[in-house]
Amino acid sequence: MKKESSIENQLENFRKEEHSVMEEERILDGAETAEESSSDLEQALRPASLKEYIGQDELKHNLNVFIQAARSRNEVLDHVLLYGPPGLGKTTLAMIIANEMKGNLVTVSGPALQKSGDLAAVLSTLEAGDVLFIDEIHRLPRQIEEILYPAMEDFYLDIIVGKEGASAHSLRLALPPFTLVGATTRAGDLSAPLRDRFGIILPLHYYAKQDLERIVSRTAGILDVEMDEDAVSEVALRSRGTPRIANRLLRRIRDFAQVYNDGLITRQVAKDALNRLNVDELGLDTTDRRFLEGIIFRFKGGPVGLEALASSIGEDTATLSDMYEPYLLQIGLINRTPRGRVATAKAYEHLGVLPEELSGKGLPD
Ligand SMILES: Nc1ncnc2c1ncn2[C@@H]1O[C@H](COP(=O)(O)OP(=O)(O)OP(=O)(O)O)[C@@H](O)[C@H]1O
Ligand SMILES: [Mg+2]
Repeated sequence: MKKESSIENQLENFRKEEHSVMEEERILDGAETAEESSSDLEQALRPASLKEYIGQDELKHNLNVFIQAARSRNEVLDHVLLYGPPGLGKTTLAMIIANEMKGNLVTVSGPALQKSGDLAAVLSTLEAGDVLFIDEIHRLPRQIEEILYPAMEDFYLDIIVGKEGASAHSLRLALPPFTLVGATTRAGDLSAPLRDRFGIILPLHYYAKQDLERIVSRTAGILDVEMDEDAVSEVALRSRGTPRIANRLLRRIRDFAQVYNDGLITRQVAKDALNRLNVDELGLDTTDRRFLEGIIFRFKGGPVGLEALASSIGEDTATLSDMYEPYLLQIGLINRTPRGRVATAKAYEHLGVLPEELSGKGLPD
């Protein structure tokens, strides 16, 4: 939104955009698309070792120590919980852990494990030193969690055999030593007993600009595209601290460069492409801006509860809280208070709205 546009124009645009936004492509969504999860390219982009893994220095350093120590003792690595926003590299780290520990990686998703038999089936395939990766572990049903406790602590599994009644009895199955790696975007949703059974808990943070620049350069190399240093910096700046978004933006910019500039990505090509993709200078997309506009225009800057805000802009609460809010908080465009979310002065400035200008106007409900 341009700084000079009047508040009436902004309101008008806000209302116009309101209904069209649902169908729009979400280029800045941190979540993996089906295309991404299956593509060979995506596999090629994933770093395979800790050495290749860029950024997250503190995490990497500690994890490296734990891996070296476990290996020199000839033990399996303690269970690892990885948490942080989508697209920061949790799945990649799970793969790296398996590689570095020279074990197989067995991957399941929390919500896919519905019956106790589902988990038993997975656990019984494990070999000594394997890594069992449970993605979205906060969505594991509670009764499955309870089966996991003894498996994690003492490597055994109690299963009930026989029909209900007199003939039913439980059978104890010994499991080979393995490492459970859990990943979640919502560490707070994990039950305390489950969380306590992880010996290693590692938070992932949004990437610093220079780390994203290295990621963008690396990806450009793998994609074999020519790119200016300035262009690398521009993409890093607008990737909201997230490698998956950096890679995705780069692929789209490459399309623009191919059509308009013989494949060469300059800063100008990158800027034009990003503007066309509705990604602004802070890396915000239409939904981020609607999030901010919702607080500012509908709720006079806040505080507003997430549910009220979500319904007023026609969004899903979970999507806002997992994908959008963390980054807006991180870069200081909103604050969380006990009474709800408030827009900061920086948010007003970014949208080109003056708080005083707003207070005189009021809004039709
Ligand atoms: N440190 C890194 N260095 C280079 N590339 C990275 C790094 N971390 C992640 N990536 C790239 O970003 C993409 C997304 O990472 P990944 O799938 O591991 O994220 P995630 O945290 O598991 O996301 P989700 O929460 O959606 O499951 C990967 O395909 C990988 O190519
Ligand atoms: Mg993942």
